[in-house]
Amino acid sequence: MYFGVDYHPEHWVHPYAGTPDRPESRWERDAQMMVAAGVNAVRMGEFVWGICEPEEGKYDFEWLWRAMDIMKLANIEVVLATPTAAPPLWLSKKHPEILPLNEQGLPLHPGTRHAYCLNSDTYWDYARKTVSAMAKALGKHPQLIAWQIDNGIGGHTTEFSFNPETRRDWHGWLKAKYETIQRLNECMGTRFWSQTVTDWDQVPMPMVAPTVHNPALVLDWMRFSSDTIKAFVKMQADLLHELTPKAPVMTNLRALSRHFDHFDVAEVLDFVALDSYATIKSKSSENAMDIDMIRSLKKTNVKMPGGSETGFWVIEQKAGNVDWQEVNSLVRPGVVRLFTYQLISRGADGVFYFFWRQPRIGSEIFYGGVLTHTGRGDNRVYREISQIGDEIKLLAPVLKDTKVVAEACILISHENMWTQKLPKQPNKYFKLRDHVLLFYSALHDRNISVEFARPSEDLSKYKIVFAPSLQVLAGGEADLLKLYVQNGGTLVSTFCTSLVNEHHIVHDTGFPGDLTDLFGMEVVEFDPLPPGEENHLTMKGHFPTSHLHPARLWCDVIEPKECQVLAVYAKDFYANQPAMTMNTYGLGKAIYIGTMSHQYFYYDLVAWLRQLCNLFPLLKVPDTVEVSLRQKDDMKIYFLLNHQSSPVRIQFYKPMHDFLTGNTFTGNYDLPPHGILVLDEHSARVGASS
Ligand code: GLA
Repeated sequence: MYFGVDYHPEHWVHPYAGTPDRPESRWERDAQMMVAAGVNAVRMGEFVWGICEPEEGKYDFEWLWRAMDIMKLANIEVVLATPTAAPPLWLSKKHPEILPLNEQGLPLHPGTRHAYCLNSDTYWDYARKTVSAMAKALGKHPQLIAWQIDNGIGGHTTEFSFNPETRRDWHGWLKAKYETIQRLNECMGTRFWSQTVTDWDQVPMPMVAPTVHNPALVLDWMRFSSDTIKAFVKMQADLLHELTPKAPVMTNLRALSRHFDHFDVAEVLDFVALDSYATIKSKSSENAMDIDMIRSLKKTNVKMPGGSETGFWVIEQKAGNVDWQEVNSLVRPGVVRLFTYQLISRGADGVFYFFWRQPRIGSEIFYGGVLTHTGRGDNRVYREISQIGDEIKLLAPVLKDTKVVAEACILISHENMWTQKLPKQPNKYFKLRDHVLLFYSALHDRNISVEFARPSEDLSKYKIVFAPSLQVLAGGEADLLKLYVQNGGTLVSTFCTSLVNEHHIVHDTGFPGDLTDLFGMEVVEFDPLPPGEENHLTMKGHFPTSHLHPARLWCDVIEPKECQVLAVYAKDFYANQPAMTMNTYGLGKAIYIGTMSHQYFYYDLVAWLRQLCNLFPLLKVPDTVEVSLRQKDDMKIYFLLNHQSSPVRIQFYKPMHDFLTGNTFTGNYDLPPHGILVLDEHSARVGASS
């Protein structure tokens, strides 16, 4: 288990630290303080290009080698980041063509990070040279355990550029995809608004135009831009694999919020890593969803530092406040610890805090850190991190090679997210992420583990699959869903499913396209509702309800065929028509929900599905306690997290051993505010009880 910090030794030299005689002397003290806090790894180097190559071809990596030596003395391992996220100023001065042009065709100027066009051959050449030089200079250092490629790739909307070289690559990409102009015209539906082309060169990039671009073109543009990012990451991954074959590579990702296909990028990495912003979110299920999404990106061929073949890292867990909200409040005592355990409980095998120390220079001086600006180490957050560090030493051997296993799956795809962000949607107030979160929260709050998958993955290992609003579904993906149900799976889909195929062409065989036989019904119309306007669900049959359930934002008008009706609408011209159905298909069941409701509906849904599919909650605890499980063979480690600022009473029906205190609990136990238990059932191995 790696317990680390994001360290920037380049910030901590004279005149900002150290002395004129020993400008780097602070590094030793930092390393000692890290060791005292239990830190066993650092990430360094993500923005050091201009320092390591101050003039073209004149490299200086020795200072980083020295920093790594200091880490070696302290027994701290090192993750190096390639510095391509911050090209030096001399490069854009010499080659202004590397600067990205925005959708208005205007250049984004240098003077910050990420000022590059990822389709620039020149930029690729320089990136290749600097990454090779770094790997050759530092790759043999014994402390190196992994590489991070670039930093925050796609950040600041650098997924897109509109440079002449981008145009060239775009046309090449289209040619490879469609092969003939005729096919491009057909698939893209360019007859609409007179957009037919006779030459590849005529296909526009979706730059600022009088009105909206062809959605099929924009969808391809997103795929192309995503492929560009994947290719850039792969170029670096290939180089690093060749030069330092023992060090696995990853990159730091946010939870699917950037505009590229994270599943695709994960394919070219050895493992994935998350930039966690847990400290600014309000719901524990929202954080948990981000974590589970990241864990789900790479399910096979995982190669972690230390040899594990499962898990992911959190390479930037914010140690305190961020600096880009309107008000950047402090993170309350105990909350960073709580979030650290939430990450670990959901499979993280490395957690690194951002920053090691609040910087004295640059644009992020008000960001939180493990150390404050004084660097004294007598501050609250340092003490909290040190406590976690002590605990991790106890837990690391227990958690080794354990993993999270899920029987429930939620389908997501970037293509679908992009599609639903296109203009002219049926309801601009409908947000796919909110819809996914309703399902996720219901499962999370009932302590049922969830994994995310793309519709093209093998779903056979899941007892139940949720597919909320997959507006775009390729023919092959629809077949896979049918196969899953045919073989005994339970599928839950919703409104806004399979309206268009992968070319963004609307189905003419009834909605949900290619799936009406699976659901045994057809959606003949859909009625988007404005916020505040509601229909209601009248439940039929055995679906138990705890509340009256509204129908919001979208109501499918459904014509039932073979399906059973589980709920109908209460009013309007489609009153008494189905709002929720279930169909038996092969050995399985296909459930369809034609509307969106409030959270209680999804709680009721999960309660009912638990019976239907034999899904068991991990442990029975009060609703406000988050439970997760990591397991290996017959060993099961439960994590209980109290996200409230008040205690919660838990009742243990059998003795449970807590790894953090060494105690065994039976009967009632009051989990303190933000308290954590790490439990297993093997009480015999410990003596003490409480
Ligand atoms: C990302 C970057 C960091 C920092 C934070 C600010 O996580 O990797 O360098 O700028 O954003 O939120």
